[in-house]
Amino acid sequence: MIGIIGGSGVEEISELADSIEKKIVDTEYGSVEVSLLIIEDKTVAFLPRHSAGHTCPPHKINFKANIMALKEIGVSQIMATNAVGSLDIDVGPGSIVLPDDFLDFTVNRERTFYDDEVIHIDMSEPFCNRLRGAILANSDCIDGNVVDGGTIVCTEGPRFETPAEIKMFGILGGKIVGMTTLPEAVLAREKGMCYVSIAVVSNYSTSISKDKLGVEEVYEIMSAKKDELIDLLFNTIKELPIDYDCECHHSLDDARM
Ligand code: HPA
Repeated sequence: MIGIIGGSGVEEISELADSIEKKIVDTEYGSVEVSLLIIEDKTVAFLPRHSAGHTCPPHKINFKANIMALKEIGVSQIMATNAVGSLDIDVGPGSIVLPDDFLDFTVNRERTFYDDEVIHIDMSEPFCNRLRGAILANSDCIDGNVVDGGTIVCTEGPRFETPAEIKMFGILGGKIVGMTTLPEAVLAREKGMCYVSIAVVSNYSTSISKDKLGVEEVYEIMSAKKDELIDLLFNTIKELPIDYDCECHHSLDDARM
């Protein structure tokens, strides 16, 4: 099954689905509400990352419960949307970035399913290349820049970054910065699921633009991009195979001592 984790601005997509069933999935890490949608004759599980009505801040998201819930209902491939700030003057608000690497600057999150077992999963390709290619191939519906690849920096939040932090992230090779890609991407890999981030640039990051950063501008862009994003998701869903094999499904093959 295909899963969608909707970030800021993408809290609800069921209005365009052919049928909807809401389901509470009880996992050992907590209960999660998931909507099962029929889109293009395929069952798609939709999960709003910040919970219904956007009530959960980034540093309090129960990432383990979310990923476990999707795994338990049979999701094998996840497309996740993220609102991000851009460190690159050429990648402005309204651009879409499909990151191919990450820098993890989170400090206080449950980051693994393997606390009682020695597991080291490979992270040479942190996001699923197959899914990234499928999204790119369906991105004609996006009005603006679509950037294939780049490093996403994930911070703990909930505050925005300081100028010195953005300077450091730039020196380290970061292109965009957000608060929600991690540990989500890693937990999905630990469960052998394909995972891709569709990062929507809602603003230039602190000090890249001279203006102070406000939440209003973030939501303004996210709301303006929502219809395009839904088209992108739906067009990609149409093309995605359901029976397939991918390296991501074998993430544990060489990971055990
Ligand atoms: N920084 C961190 N997270 C964000 C930003 C940002 O500039 N914009 C949207 N989410």
